[in-house]
Amino acid sequence: MNVLITGGAGFIGSHLSENLKNDKRIKKIYIIDNLTSGSKKNISGILKDKKIKFIKQDIKNINKIKNYFKNVSVVFHLAGLVDVANSINNPLKYLKNNLLGTLNILECMKLYNVKKIIFAASSSCYGNAGKNSINESQKVETESPYAYSKNSAEELIKLFSKINKTNFVSLRLFNVYGQRAKMTGNYASVISIFLRQKKNNKPLTIVGDGNQSRDFVHVLDVVEAFKKASFSKNKNKVYNIGTGKSETINKIAKIFGGKKKFIPKRAGDLRFSKAKISKVKKDLKWIPKKKLNKSIQELIKNLC
Ligand SMILES: NC(=O)c1ccc[n+]([C@@H]2O[C@H](COP(=O)([O-])OP(=O)(O)OC[C@H]3O[C@@H](n4cnc5c(N)ncnc54)[C@H](O)[C@@H]3O)[C@@H](O)[C@H]2O)c1
Repeated sequence: MNVLITGGAGFIGSHLSENLKNDKRIKKIYIIDNLTSGSKKNISGILKDKKIKFIKQDIKNINKIKNYFKNVSVVFHLAGLVDVANSINNPLKYLKNNLLGTLNILECMKLYNVKKIIFAASSSCYGNAGKNSINESQKVETESPYAYSKNSAEELIKLFSKINKTNFVSLRLFNVYGQRAKMTGNYASVISIFLRQKKNNKPLTIVGDGNQSRDFVHVLDVVEAFKKASFSKNKNKVYNIGTGKSETINKIAKIFGGKKKFIPKRAGDLRFSKAKISKVKKDLKWIPKKKLNKSIQELIKNLC
């Protein structure tokens, strides 16, 4: 089958593109990315493969992207602006990109009768949900224009699936880490920031008291979830993609070792986040395999 990946030159999208390139069931992969935060370097290993067609385009421009949806069976929709703090100052930009961009994808699917979309949704829809693990029926409580744009995009996908009889799987990703995650800018996740600081022999900056916790899920596990979702018979479902465990930032700093420096909290930062993943385990037989401690050690080793 042919597939189309939006945001395929980004952190998660590039790993997904690489993985799908090696999947014999897939004949052609269209990657649409405007390279705002992604980079051709992320997919340099596969760009020349004849299975891959890279299209530098913006999903906001429907006329420039629509024709690539012809003969596509599954769309993996990962394109998005991802900086929570930046979204607070630029809400319109985030809504245009993440929500109206998604509307364009859905219209293109309708035009060429594409039946399935796998969406990179976000656990940010749960807001500050407390210390307990969160299941998919937890009340949505967005705390930033970013979270709002991602959740509204998910709602739009559900609506189109009803109207046009198409299928979706929405994967609410928790904190994804791994090779190629952005090390700079507001959006860089704590593990990437610590990697950069370790590389530059700088103290590790801990936001607030460091007792906030996150559910860190490895990018290669996330890619497996996308793949399983695309081949599964389960349809019109929302799944949490995390590990079901959460670690404090202080614990992550301890794994890295070295000097620490505490800095003030940022707008939009959440206190706790932990996924309940029984639904995805049962339906998709997906289990996160990567161990946090070992994976961080590997990332540190790769810095040298
Ligand atoms: N990384 C995480 O922890 C995490 C958590 C929850 C959800 N997500 C979602 O997963 C997706 C991928 O995130 P990522 O961490 O790989 O970020 P990323 O910034 O590396 O990837 C996003 C990609 O989308 C592209 N893009 C953005 N706007 C576009 C547009 N208008 N047209 C075409 N391409 C566009 C960017 O250039 C980039 O390559 C995002 O939608 C994000 O909201 C990520």
